[in-house]
Amino acid sequence: MTIGTLDLGPRPVLLAPMEDVTDIGFRLLCRQMGAAMVYSEFVSSDALVRNVNRTVQKLEVCPEERPVAIQIYGKYPDAMEEAARIVVETARPDILDINFGCPVKRVASKGAGAGLLQNVPLMLEIARRVVDAVDVPVTAKTRLGWDQNHIIIQDLAEQLQDQGIQALTIHGRTRSQMYTGQANWDPIAEVKRNPRIHIPIIGNGDIDSPQKALDAFNLYGVDAIMVGRATFGRPWIFREINAVLQKTDEQEVPMVNAQCSMLNEECPMTNDWKLNTLKQQVLTCIAHLDERRGILHSRRHIANSPIFKGIPNFREHRIAMLRAETADELFRLMEEARHLIPD
Ligand SMILES: Cc1cc2nc3c(=O)[nH]c(=O)nc-3n(C[C@H](O)[C@H](O)[C@H](O)COP(=O)(O)O)c2cc1C
Repeated sequence: MTIGTLDLGPRPVLLAPMEDVTDIGFRLLCRQMGAAMVYSEFVSSDALVRNVNRTVQKLEVCPEERPVAIQIYGKYPDAMEEAARIVVETARPDILDINFGCPVKRVASKGAGAGLLQNVPLMLEIARRVVDAVDVPVTAKTRLGWDQNHIIIQDLAEQLQDQGIQALTIHGRTRSQMYTGQANWDPIAEVKRNPRIHIPIIGNGDIDSPQKALDAFNLYGVDAIMVGRATFGRPWIFREINAVLQKTDEQEVPMVNAQCSMLNEECPMTNDWKLNTLKQQVLTCIAHLDERRGILHSRRHIANSPIFKGIPNFREHRIAMLRAETADELFRLMEEARHLIPD
């Protein structure tokens, strides 16, 4: 799949943008695990224009994580245009992505993110202004519509394409659904089947196994998939999915979920390897942020990692991990858990 001149290879698996999650350390780790491209958390255009220090820091990218997309959000075309220029001048991302899908109240109710699904003319104006402002490919990420009675993605995809958007990520939920229920991939497949659509369509929503990744490509026909929550405490999901995608070549493999950890024969993903990978995540986050923020960002992932599922009476231990304040403390707790992890 290519976006503009950026070649992401066949059937790419992308790390979704996630606020307070996809910091530089986590992005780097996910790239090392096989994510074809990673996205920053969304960055407020208003705050960027005001040069708010904490927001400007979110633009830091490192060469090893490329290709990387930086995502911006906002509802004022002037601010979005200026923010787009700032992002490109500061970070030179491979892709500039616009958030038209954030459902949370403090964003959507103020008319930004998914709020723009209720004001399509303004959304299109923002898309056009951002596309015209920068010389990197501009992409967008959105949802199916505001609610079940207003599924607008079929027309919207064409309209965004007409503004010069070069790839579209569709999360198969409405704004009203927030994160509840199941993602509906049928409308995504319908966009993909539209003969007028020539930009890549990236499918998103509920992919948490190699089987679901295979289905996304084979049943729904998307050009790429984007994985979000399933990466928490499991950054190796990219390896698991890629191993199966590479072996299958459009064919479904029976029992792929059971087989996936055996497919990386040169480096088997044992429990020891997984725990060491999580320790690496902590170290990478600390190296690229600082110890306090590195621990804050990574301890939630570690404590909720699926590798600890099934350990009896683990609750107290998990809470202690969530409260760990230093790398030493977190590593001690992880080491104590190492021999308890079920095979
Ligand atoms: C903690 C969290 C933060 C998120 N932040 C963003 C964001 O900054 N920008 C964005 O476009 N989507 C954001 N999302 C939505 C995800 O990118 C993705 O669309 C959603 O989680 C569905 O994919 P999944 O089922 O694979 O998690 C966020 C989701 C979560 C859970």
